[in-house]
Amino acid sequence: MEKSTLKFPHEIRDVEESTNAELMEYFHGERTGFVQVGSEGYFFPHKYKEEAERYYNFEARPDDVWIATVPRSGTTWTQELIWLLANGLDYEQAQRRPLPERFPFFEFPVFMHPQVKEELLEKNKESASALEFIEKISRPAYEALSEVPHSQRRFIKTHFPFSLMPPSVMEKKCKVIYVVRDPKDVAVSYYHLNRLFRTQGYVGDFERYWRYFQRGLNPWLPYYSHVKEARAYAHLDNVLFLRYEDMLVDLPGTIHSIASFLECPPKAKDMDRLLDHLSIQNFRNNKSVNMHEMASVGILNEGEAGFVRKGSKTECQPQKEFVDNPSLLVNANEWIEQNVKCLKTI
Ligand code: A3P
Repeated sequence: MEKSTLKFPHEIRDVEESTNAELMEYFHGERTGFVQVGSEGYFFPHKYKEEAERYYNFEARPDDVWIATVPRSGTTWTQELIWLLANGLDYEQAQRRPLPERFPFFEFPVFMHPQVKEELLEKNKESASALEFIEKISRPAYEALSEVPHSQRRFIKTHFPFSLMPPSVMEKKCKVIYVVRDPKDVAVSYYHLNRLFRTQGYVGDFERYWRYFQRGLNPWLPYYSHVKEARAYAHLDNVLFLRYEDMLVDLPGTIHSIASFLECPPKAKDMDRLLDHLSIQNFRNNKSVNMHEMASVGILNEGEAGFVRKGSKTECQPQKEFVDNPSLLVNANEWIEQNVKCLKTI
């Protein structure tokens, strides 16, 4: 029997006109405008309005493995680890097939504005393989993922908060791994990513970016709404809640947590190679995980920080962007303190 289509349950409204105009001035990857969704006001480019219901109605399968994060929380690092553990540490395949192919990014096409896509097609018109790649990453993932044979396990990356994920993910009890990271580090890293990706095309400085971050005016934010939702699901058997900072301090511990969650423990003799493979130095040079294909078709702007950057944490030392701007650091710490207080009272 045909499953009936779920009505998208959240209101989607255009961002207030003057704020939208300002954002369009500073984020050149979006050419139509921005929207906010539901009571938390999750922020997206305009295309989400047309696509929300189709993403929401995507049919999850019980053996899917999902990773959900606020961007820049260590998603890529965790993805590679999950995929390797669940695929018998198949390094040969991991090298041959780029991570975005093995572990696709569910809603990336929402960020490919038609005009930006046209510009990329024009820029790459001499290369058939580049054109094919651009078409591939622009294709809705709800379509492409539905075509994966049932015999093949799907690994899916999303930055959607739980409330915007297809309800079938939790209904089918898919395994969901959520990674959280210190918001100051997320903001610094996300600032650089917004400058790096042409689909975001940020042209402002960090102070301005932080103000937008704090107000939830960047895709998939507000940060604390996202994290708060995930915490409410963290006790469930099919959800594993991890901290990026714990991974930095004790990667073997995280490997064991994920392995036992996915029921595929590595052998003790395999640990050294796995730890080495996952080191940030190797990640920077690993073309399978460092968005090499995106760079080769010009989606990444030249002269910006790379996709795999420093991998540091504020607990040791606030990042340069905050150290250089002490009043912003004070403001950020106050904002975090207020939000953490609210989180604790929930
Ligand atoms: P920084 O920009 O602070 O360095 P995501 O994959 O969610 O976009 O997260 C990106 C962040 O994870 C970046 O943080 C990146 O450098 C860091 N990262 C990527 N690979 C890593 C690794 N192997 N070890 C530690 N951090 C890593």
